[in-house]
Amino acid sequence: MRATVLALPGNAPLAARLVLDLPARMGRLEVRRFPDGETYVRIGSPVAGRPVVIAATLDRPDEKLIALSLAAATARELGATAVGLVAPYLPYLRQDRRFRSGEALSAKHFARLLSGVVDWVVTVDPHLHRVPDLGGLYAIPAESVTAASRIAQWVREHVQAPVLVGPDEESRQWVGRVADEVGAPVVTLLKRRLGDREVCIELPDLAPYRGRTPVLVDDIVSTGRTLIEAARGLAKLGLASPWCIAVHGIFAGGAYGRLQAAGMAGVVTCNTVRHPSNAIEVHDLLTPAAAHRLAEAAATSGGESW
Ligand code: R5P
Repeated sequence: MRATVLALPGNAPLAARLVLDLPARMGRLEVRRFPDGETYVRIGSPVAGRPVVIAATLDRPDEKLIALSLAAATARELGATAVGLVAPYLPYLRQDRRFRSGEALSAKHFARLLSGVVDWVVTVDPHLHRVPDLGGLYAIPAESVTAASRIAQWVREHVQAPVLVGPDEESRQWVGRVADEVGAPVVTLLKRRLGDREVCIELPDLAPYRGRTPVLVDDIVSTGRTLIEAARGLAKLGLASPWCIAVHGIFAGGAYGRLQAAGMAGVVTCNTVRHPSNAIEVHDLLTPAAAHRLAEAAATSGGESW
């Protein structure tokens, strides 16, 4: 039985891609607010006896979680055999440790919450740091794909003589892969986070790279402070204006404008979160992972194979 794809508001291009690549058809999902701010959800297509795939990138997750939960629960009540989530951006991964006493381990608790809402999830480059994989957090099958090859391709096509720069140690996993594929040198900087909007970045000696164009690669740009501080450090060392590439462009509170004003060569993101900076297509990378999850779900429920 073909799957039904339901798109949360703003996710129509992702849903269209899923329908194109999977044995699936587009379903109708209505989501709106009641005047008091509560969420109204209605599934307007048949879902009984078939799997449902919800397309919902989860930046600004607090605004979206209720709609997602109501859509998934309703799909199940209406007879869907399984409900999967394709979320190019998966949030709540940074707080994987209690840095100060009493803090919520939100990575763990959000994962538990979402594991109760859908049967599987696929995503792009989740921000995993101290937890090695999503299986360490999620109680449901959780699969990730990486945008590294696509970023490498973009760099090869747009930047001559690049040096790949990771703004912090965590970025090594992404920037290292990109540098390998580009065949360019890579350096990682040392970041200390002083607060939500304040970071301090130490740079090694970069004199050997002065003739190259720096390309900063990070998984997430949120306030933009990390990339702005890294760019400032590169300028002090006499390097050219850097390109900034992020997998997930969250751009909290005017961050895009601040980055553009900071003298970058350009700011480029993958299309995991819709934004004018999207220049790297990754939706199609998610469809094999979604197809795999649909096949597994069908096999465990004894349903038709994919
Ligand atoms: C965290 O370490 C991530 O990899 C990013 O570096 C971080 O989320 C960027 O945040 P911001 O743009 O607020 O500096």
